[in-house]
Amino acid sequence: MPLEGTCEGQMACSTCHVILGEKWFAKLPEASEEEEDMLDLAAGVQRFSRLSCQIELTEELDGIEVHVPAESRDAQRY
Ligand code: FES
Repeated sequence: MPLEGTCEGQMACSTCHVILGEKWFAKLPEASEEEEDMLDLAAGVQRFSRLSCQIELTEELDGIEVHVPAESRDAQRY
């Protein structure tokens, strides 16, 4: 996967931004305020965007499909 995850899950970069299908998005718990704030800085954000570092993979998410945006923005660099 061409995901950087520069901050290693500290919600400080948004390079792990992914876009999910509605079905998968609905299975996730709501994003925290901190995640929403970081998504505001991500490139190409869409309605079903999440930070993949905040997704806990459970059996319910077996088979999850995500799309990696064509561009990313490292909030630690700007
Ligand atoms: S790895 Fe940096 S926000 Fe997810």
